[in-house]
Amino acid sequence: SSVTIPPPECMLRPLEVPFRYLFGPGPSNVPPRILAAGGRAIIGHLHPEMYEIMNDIKKGIQYAFQTQNNMTIAMSGSGHAAMECAIFNTVEPGESVLVAVNGIWGERVAEIAERMGANVHIMVKAPGGIFSNEEIEKVFVLYLHCISLSSHNDDSSFKFKHNTLFLVDTVASLGASPIFMDQQNIDILYTGSQKALNAPPGTAPISFNERACQKMFNRKTKPVSYLFDMAHLSNYWGNDGQPARLYHHTGPVSGFFSLRESLAILAEKGLEESWRHHREVAGYLWKGLEDMGIKLFIQNKDLRLPSVTTIVIPEGYNWREMLQYMMKHHNMEMTGGLGPSTGMVMRVGLMGYNCQKTNADMVLAALADALKNCKKSKA
Ligand code: GLV
Repeated sequence: SSVTIPPPECMLRPLEVPFRYLFGPGPSNVPPRILAAGGRAIIGHLHPEMYEIMNDIKKGIQYAFQTQNNMTIAMSGSGHAAMECAIFNTVEPGESVLVAVNGIWGERVAEIAERMGANVHIMVKAPGGIFSNEEIEKVFVLYLHCISLSSHNDDSSFKFKHNTLFLVDTVASLGASPIFMDQQNIDILYTGSQKALNAPPGTAPISFNERACQKMFNRKTKPVSYLFDMAHLSNYWGNDGQPARLYHHTGPVSGFFSLRESLAILAEKGLEESWRHHREVAGYLWKGLEDMGIKLFIQNKDLRLPSVTTIVIPEGYNWREMLQYMMKHHNMEMTGGLGPSTGMVMRVGLMGYNCQKTNADMVLAALADALKNCKKSKA
């Protein structure tokens, strides 16, 4: 045999990556300090120095999540990896999962659970709809009652309630708005690296409390994924009490360097200051938008995320055209909605390093320019 396929032309040209203002829902711009950390020389994924870095990451996540959970790691993968890890490990085929769906992420969790054979129930609200604690509790009891009946176990509601695990997704909010994993009795919590943490996409912190560990380490079946099996990952992260960490998979070494640095920046700044700062800049952006006559999608200020702001598509404008205009003329990414919110909203994210009033001013100027120069259409 011989080489018949020549080297592709494109591979003989240098890599080109433009600068962009990443003012959408993520990834956000990565500060030089985190970029530099990711550019450090590679070491082996099983070297002792790497274990130290992973131990640091674990402590950084425990701080960011406000948890003392031993079973705290970073996934090799994006937020979706953490989402799948949570479901794959804690749910067995045929078990029930109840998902509060008010947009694409609830839909995704429901689909992931359904794919692995769970019995999925959903409670749905329109995009942006808020579930109160009372509603969640009420629906839990309702579903748990159904489940208990179908399993011929008359008085098991309490037991089921007791056995229920509470999973929370903070991909778009960690570091920008308060979360207290232990104090809020959250059993499983995860986030992504590329939003307010400002690391590149590709790693995802996740933590399981003791109740979640009891459930996932006493399963009858093996989790459907080998890569995301917490029995292996807990060893890789030195959480299982074993003297040796064995080879499971090769973690993203540079991604972990970057994640460590992003967690270090959060620790130096302090959670309270980071939350305060995001709220202040978001408030500034919201006022600027309202002064321009742009409507915010979530009416109640207290329920808005300070990290990603959803705005109602200005009447008569084509949102795709506006986004393209701002990309072309301002080098700036904002995005539309996703899933059920597509065509309803545009999203602006000012997270971590990007969370600055000067950036909010740039967003406002770009939007004003787009409103002036994009044609009004019926679409
Ligand atoms: C992706 O994470 C998004 O929110 O668009």
